[in-house]
Amino acid sequence: MKIALVTGAYKGLGFEWCRQLGKLGYKVLLTARKTENAIESANILIAEGLEIYPIVMEVTDHAQIGEVVRWVEEKFGKLDLLINNAGINSGTRARGNKELQNKNLSLESLEPNEVLNMININAIAPIIVARHFRYLLAKSESGKIINIGSWLGSISIKKSGGNYSYAVSKSALNMMNKALAYDLAEDNIISVVVNPGWVQTDMGGGKAQFTTEQSVLNLIENVVNKIELNDSGKFLNFDGTEHPW
Ligand SMILES: NC(=O)c1ccc[n+]([C@@H]2O[C@H](COP(=O)([O-])OP(=O)(O)OC[C@H]3O[C@@H](n4cnc5c(N)ncnc54)[C@H](OP(=O)(O)O)[C@@H]3O)[C@@H](O)[C@H]2O)c1
Repeated sequence: MKIALVTGAYKGLGFEWCRQLGKLGYKVLLTARKTENAIESANILIAEGLEIYPIVMEVTDHAQIGEVVRWVEEKFGKLDLLINNAGINSGTRARGNKELQNKNLSLESLEPNEVLNMININAIAPIIVARHFRYLLAKSESGKIINIGSWLGSISIKKSGGNYSYAVSKSALNMMNKALAYDLAEDNIISVVVNPGWVQTDMGGGKAQFTTEQSVLNLIENVVNKIELNDSGKFLNFDGTEHPW
C-alpha cells in the first residue's frame, strides 16, 4: 500500500498526478485550497475507480498542514510520495488583472511584496510542507519528494529580461531543495526539483508543448521510478537528465 499527497491538485498538473498515481495503485490525497474544488475533482477520479481522498490544504497555512499530517498519520501511519505541485505565476496570480500581472513582470512596475509573495508560495511553502511530512516520509521504505520547478528557474539558460518574481521563486526552490536534500538524507528521504516542460494548463496556456498526461507520464517514468538517494538535491528535466542550474 503506497500513499501519495499532491498539493494544488484539483486541476492542471496536480490533478493529472492524482489520476496517474491512482492508476498505479497509490492511495492519493488530492489537496486543494477550497473544499468544493477538492471534493469535485476527487469525485471524478473516484468515479474512475481510484482511491482518492479530498483534503483541504492551503500550502502557506502551517496549522492546516499540521492537521493534514495528523490525519495521514492516523489513517495510514506513513507517506511514500509528496508532490509539491501548488504554484503561481504572474498570470495565475493576477487572474486577468494586467496591472497586477505587471507588478511581477516588468522592471518598471516591479512590486517587492508581489515578488516576496511568489517566493513564499513557490519556494518556501514546498520546504515547509516537506518539513511537516518528514516524519511520515521517514516511515516509508522509499520516501520521495518531487518539487515542481521550472526551466524558468534556471539562471544559466535565461536569455531575456523581465518575469522577475516567477523565475526568482523557482531558482530559490532549487537552492531550498539542495539544502533540504542534505537534511533529509539522514532519514533516507529523496527530494528533487523537476522541470515538467511547457504544459497545457491554465498556467501554461493552450499552445504549450505537452498535455498534462504526457508531462506527468514523463515525470513518473523518468524521475519517480528512477531516482535514488544519490540523486537527492538535483534539478532534473522531464526526461530524467540533469537540468542546467
Ligand atoms: N504549465 C506549465 O507549463 C508549467 C511549467 C513549469 C512549471 N509549472 C509548475 O507546475 C505546477 C502546477 O502548475 P499548473 O501548470 O498545473 O498550473 P495551474 O493549473 O494554475 O495549477 C496551479 C495549482 O496550484 C494551486 N495553488 C496556488 N497557490 C496555492 C496555495 N497557496 N495553496 C494551495 N494551492 C495553491 C492552484 O489552486 P487555486 O486555483 O486555488 O489557486 C492550482 O490548483 C506549478 O508549480 C507551476 O509553477 C508549470
